[in-house]
Amino acid sequence: MKIFSGIQPSGTLTLGNYLGGAMKHFVDLQEDNQCYFCVVDEHAITVPQDRMALRENIRSLAALYIASGIDPAKSVLFIQSEVPAHTQLGWMLQTVSYIGELERMTQFKDKSRGKDAVSAGLLTYPPLMAADILLYNTDIVPVGEDQKQHLELTRDLAQRFNHRYNDIFTVPEISIPKVGARIMSLQEPTKKMSKSDINQKASIFMLDTEKQIEKKIKSAVTDSDGIVKYDKENKPGVSNLLTIHAGCTGETIAELERKFEGKGYGGEFKQETANVVNNTLQPIQERYSQLIESEELDELLDQGADKANFDANKMLVKAKKAMGLGRVIKKKKK
Ligand code: TYM
Repeated sequence: MKIFSGIQPSGTLTLGNYLGGAMKHFVDLQEDNQCYFCVVDEHAITVPQDRMALRENIRSLAALYIASGIDPAKSVLFIQSEVPAHTQLGWMLQTVSYIGELERMTQFKDKSRGKDAVSAGLLTYPPLMAADILLYNTDIVPVGEDQKQHLELTRDLAQRFNHRYNDIFTVPEISIPKVGARIMSLQEPTKKMSKSDINQKASIFMLDTEKQIEKKIKSAVTDSDGIVKYDKENKPGVSNLLTIHAGCTGETIAELERKFEGKGYGGEFKQETANVVNNTLQPIQERYSQLIESEELDELLDQGADKANFDANKMLVKAKKAMGLGRVIKKKKK
């Protein structure tokens, strides 16, 4: 199977990206599949970015991937802007996308709401994402729940292209984790945990210190009934902490409910949740700090870009041919 996923280098990654996005799951998947992992920097510039911060975030995200267990000898790890086929196919897919369907994307609506200047790139983001996926004959795309609508559009665009031009694209399936598909904000547990939340206490960042994590979890919003039970509707804060805990240890929610029965929140439940998050992130942080300053990281990314360019260009040639772009080279007369 071919597997593809991407993360935007638009800030420090959160525990949501690790548990819900491909990160945690890629580590298992790469054993038996051909996996591609992409730092999608061209997606990040659909909203304003600070140049220096973006550069740093790109490298940092690549290092975090490896630190989380992505093995560049098994998977292809690369930076989107170093593989020009993505924007080329992205443009071609824009021409089979309808403005109406792009305007219906909730991410577009959320990110453009109340703004005076909305970039055209924010609207045409999904065809670029479709290009990322379709270039590699991808069978499965592991992502968090918030990407479901984009994946459905990717499938529509692939089918539309195949029908209109030539049957060249694999129509990908989405894979959403059973636990952790939507990690919520610690401060407002009815909205998702996000890299760009201005309230620093709302998100656990993958590079937070042990103390910061403990403090954030201890001040996470819960409720006043003191019962550790999963109930997303009525107890969103406690349910979110249970999900985080289960996502880190692999225990089921039911097992955790039994374990913390009658123990309240403030003591054991929050403390142990902080401990399991720290146990998960600490080894990643150690490997990260070795990698981030190393030349090894750049070598690995160079190799990843070479491999991705090679594979992506094959599909790009097919897509251009299917659409009639470029020319047919006449054979020279002898
Ligand atoms: P991005 O960068 O917002 O998030 C990266 C991954 O993390 C998941 N995620 C979450 N999962 C659970 N709980 C959360 N609070 C949470 N926040 C984020 C996302 O679902 C995603 O899997 N459009 C994509 C990037 C992208 C991409 C692609 C993904 C571009 N091209 C091709 C897959 C395939 C995005 O903005 O993800």
